[in-house]
Amino acid sequence: MSRRPLLIRHASQLVTLKGSSDAPLTGKAMEALHIIEDGSVWIEEGIIQSVGTDREITEKYGSRLEEARVIDASGRLVTPGLVDPHTHLVFAGSRENEFEMRLKGATYMEIMNAGGGIHATTSATQKATHEQLYEESRRRLDLFLRHGVTTVEAKSGYGLTLEHELKQLEVARELNRNHPVDVVSTFMGAHAVPVAYRERPDDFVDRVIREMIPEVARRKLAEFNDVFCEKGVFTPEQSRRILEAGKEWGLLPKIHADEIEPYGGAELAAEVGAVSADHLLKASEQGIRAMAEKGVVAVLLPGTAFFLMAESADGRRMIDAGVPVALSTDCNPGSSPTVSMPLIMNLGCLKMGMTPAEVLTAATINAAHAIRRGHEIGSIEEGKKADLVLFDVSNYMSLQYAFGVNHVHTVIKGGEVVLS
Ligand code: NIG
Ligand code: FE
Repeated sequence: MSRRPLLIRHASQLVTLKGSSDAPLTGKAMEALHIIEDGSVWIEEGIIQSVGTDREITEKYGSRLEEARVIDASGRLVTPGLVDPHTHLVFAGSRENEFEMRLKGATYMEIMNAGGGIHATTSATQKATHEQLYEESRRRLDLFLRHGVTTVEAKSGYGLTLEHELKQLEVARELNRNHPVDVVSTFMGAHAVPVAYRERPDDFVDRVIREMIPEVARRKLAEFNDVFCEKGVFTPEQSRRILEAGKEWGLLPKIHADEIEPYGGAELAAEVGAVSADHLLKASEQGIRAMAEKGVVAVLLPGTAFFLMAESADGRRMIDAGVPVALSTDCNPGSSPTVSMPLIMNLGCLKMGMTPAEVLTAATINAAHAIRRGHEIGSIEEGKKADLVLFDVSNYMSLQYAFGVNHVHTVIKGGEVVLS
């Protein structure tokens, strides 16, 4: 790490999101971006030391200005590094054959029940060596970085046996160590009922609880425990058992909830004290109210709805009901093969009735809270990790407005320029 301070100067808009480290933002507060015009940031030892107008910062550090490496951000928007709180980063192979099947009318669930979908990726992932899996996933992580993402959450769930779940989580851990993008791991052994357990799904649930969760926890390979609670996959009762078992081993609950059918997933998330409930396309009014009361973050995935040609979750209604909303790519080979958080922000505006300010909050500080990192990342404030993105647009509204364009100019991770 370079010992010289880093000074970013003259951002046309510096989106700080200050004051949001303790809890995710809700309601009107999701639009309070706390923008500084002609903004500057002083960084040392990978940590943000001071944030203000260029005048304030240059006056404060006057005698030390010559020491610093300087990045001129004139004409550019500077935001916190984007955070993606829900990905299936580590997998092998691809499923473009299913795309055509879906375009001709097959549904996602039909394909999965016929042994494709998650099962197809599970076979490919089981067959891949650690090295192959690492290489495929590293390439994806490079692409995330190119789109301004500095932290991703990554789920297992394409192993579905202890051996292969551990392999996926070990790859994620190694990527976290070697790659500039931080990787936060989630165990998701309950991603699908393996074909061999189709007639006795509870036996698989028992294996997840007795065999996989304890070993993952003992090896400290994950912080979170997630389950696909959906009709035809895991019932709310099975999901509750899995999430409660994870809690006993210190794994914090997350849940894929109410994606395809209303199934009580949002209610269950509130009941077990989940950190987040994700998808929520079909969440009930009652479930949304319960999430708001318990402060469960709604991680919304409009790329998945777009790609599955479904109606998006109602982000507007959730924000108005006081639920903290975050956004994510859900990057995976079947229902959302994208790495672009900027595209997701655009879809948040167009498909979920969110404003440009709300989607930026949802992709930064609220996303950080969805993976319990609100104190470290997600805003540009003194004491936080110096993860920042410079975009080639002058204001935050243009970011989601000119869509399908990668506006990322420079990415700074832990005070180092990792992409320019
Ligand atoms: O979040 N819904 C379940 N899991 C993933 C899809 C995984 C896959 O299709 O490979 C999701 O959309
Ligand atoms: Fe997912």
